[in-house]
Amino acid sequence: MAERGSLAGKVALVTGGSRGIGAAVSARLAELGASVLVNYARSEGAAKGVVEGIRSRGGQAHLLGGDMTDPKQVEALFQEVDRSHGGRVDILVNNAGIYLQGPLAEFSLEDFDRTFAVNVRSLFLVTKAALSRIPDGGRIINLGSIVGERVPFPGITVYSASKFAVAGLTRGWARELAPRRITVNDVQPGPIDTDMNPADSSVNPAADMMRASIPLGRYGTADEVAALVAFLATPAAAFISGATINIDGGTIA
Ligand SMILES: NC(=O)c1ccc[n+]([C@@H]2O[C@H](COP(=O)([O-])OP(=O)(O)OC[C@H]3O[C@@H](n4cnc5c(N)ncnc54)[C@H](OP(=O)(O)O)[C@@H]3O)[C@@H](O)[C@H]2O)c1
Repeated sequence: MAERGSLAGKVALVTGGSRGIGAAVSARLAELGASVLVNYARSEGAAKGVVEGIRSRGGQAHLLGGDMTDPKQVEALFQEVDRSHGGRVDILVNNAGIYLQGPLAEFSLEDFDRTFAVNVRSLFLVTKAALSRIPDGGRIINLGSIVGERVPFPGITVYSASKFAVAGLTRGWARELAPRRITVNDVQPGPIDTDMNPADSSVNPAADMMRASIPLGRYGTADEVAALVAFLATPAAAFISGATINIDGGTIA
């Protein structure tokens, strides 16, 4: 468990920090002392709630709107980082993602393009724009998925393929950025109880099937994923890079 103050003086950007895992990561990084830039695309009210929650606990947070699939909005976001935080991002958490499902025969080209735009293109755009602002020894943490390693049931192929791409980008960038001591890692959650994948079977018909596949017998929480992401951001994790780390209750063991 990372210690309070271990991220003091660091600036962290969390894409999709308005809800779910991104909101929990934002809160945890702030608890450890980082000044957190909370990005949102559509959920402005929820993102404001995340920022206010952090501030009410004595932490530092800043709201940054923008659709991370759009190069112009990515550029505008970093211009704001330049103004508000001197153009420095020590920790980048590429968390924004969407989960669209369906069999090949019914899966539309629009949904294919949207999946790859949010889950892959946004990583490319944001990481490329962040690069000159990440100091030596910085951190990049990508949110992949255990289905970026195996495809355990049908209907998730395109989402799964996008997360295989996240694993590939992580490994390549880890090698490329190692000379600057920037570590790049891929956190791969199993089923986590969020809007994307509710544990409540009355709203998510797949919940019981997923729960049955988890040896620990329950969904994970966003806070559990946040604790792992935050650890990877700390100095104690300086020798972990290019790794895909599963947090899935044993699901793909
Ligand atoms: N929950 C799971 O079971 C699970 C499992 C494995 C991996 N993951 C991965 O973990 C990450 C977070 O998932 P989650 O469960 O927390 O999902 P979630 O509850 O649906 O939240 C998704 C977040 O992504 C943001 N987002 C979506 N499109 C965006 C865009 N174009 N630009 C900026 N932000 C955007 C949303 O912001 P707005 O609402 O403001 O648009 C929201 O904050 C995703 O990459 C997901 O694939 C989740």
